Amino acid sequence: MPASRPSASRPRLLRPTPANLTRLAAALRRGEIVGVPSETVYGLAADALSADACARIFEAKGRPTTDPLIVHLAAARDIARVALVNDAALALASAFWPGPLTLVLPKRAEVPDIVTAGKPTVAVRVPAHPLFRRLIRASGRPLAAPSANPFGYVSPTTAAHVRDGLAGTSLRAVLDGGECSVGVESTIIDLTRPRSPRLLRPGGLAVEEIERVLGLPVARPRPARLAAHVAAPAPGMLARHYSPRTPLVLHPRLDAAALARLAPDEAALLLRRPAASHDGVTDPRLHALSADGDLREIARRLFSALRALDAAGWRRLHAELPAGAEGLAPAIRDRLTRAAARS
Ligand code: TXA
Ligand code: MG
Repeated sequence: MPASRPSASRPRLLRPTPANLTRLAAALRRGEIVGVPSETVYGLAADALSADACARIFEAKGRPTTDPLIVHLAAARDIARVALVNDAALALASAFWPGPLTLVLPKRAEVPDIVTAGKPTVAVRVPAHPLFRRLIRASGRPLAAPSANPFGYVSPTTAAHVRDGLAGTSLRAVLDGGECSVGVESTIIDLTRPRSPRLLRPGGLAVEEIERVLGLPVARPRPARLAAHVAAPAPGMLARHYSPRTPLVLHPRLDAAALARLAPDEAALLLRRPAASHDGVTDPRLHALSADGDLREIARRLFSALRALDAAGWRRLHAELPAGAEGLAPAIRDRLTRAAARS
């Protein structure tokens, strides 16, 4: 790794040159942790077959070891190295990998218990970001990687987010692969009972697309969980997760009347650009995630916007929730709902 400098506790951002990829692959083989780009969010990667290396992930993130990690592979054909496959998994892998889909399957004995939190299952995915796959190939190992944020904070969608969030940990380097193109984490499907697939986390791949390929309904978590939370933002029913430090209040809609009630030290995250005010002055408290409510654009910009608003010193944030069960709406609602949950 690069020689230590005065700012040694701050990870370095490395350009994706062949020399840097070789260097990072060697670091991974030595059991070090590395920040990696993916199409969803940045990951904090380590050799998935080394319990010691994976322990460094939990330590750097401050993550409880009861929360298992996703194992990333360079290609779908490598799945049998870590998991027991079934026909449903093969169908989804060939339809959606590389891409923002994670499958939970029975694990192979080679996968250390720390990766799966002692469970008999393992979560696997082939990421779409070509640099991530190149690094997996160069390291010759499957790579375990959670999102590269301190436990409980908003997930990172740029290399700078990773550097800023994990300064002072054992992380030395982040491979800079630009901004994440999807912006929310992968969709997680439990396929341990292939005839009864279950959604464990809505994410970057729409569930209806998965159902179309499986020809089966996917069981979803009860929406009551989300609804209860919007109605009563205080209870500790849902773990605080993806949370900015600034209090966040959710709204089904922020219309002109609601925006007129915004205090001078409050900001609002909107799904679409509001109609221009008659005097043409833009209100610095209003942040639109998209011009026209496009869900992919909203997902791509969501975490960056939450981080920027959190850093700006507002007393309170307000955000609008997208409606509907289609596309990325459930994933965006899920992340905003968790971000608003207070510990
Ligand atoms: O898009 C993503 O999935 C990103 C990128 C880096 O790949 N990764 C990610 O990892 O979001 P993480 O650790 O932040 O979230 C993984 C989720 C956790 O909530 C964990 O509980 C769940 O996956 N998980 C992992 N293994 C599991 C298993 N065997 N059974 C059930 N859930 C599992
Ligand atoms: Mg995470």
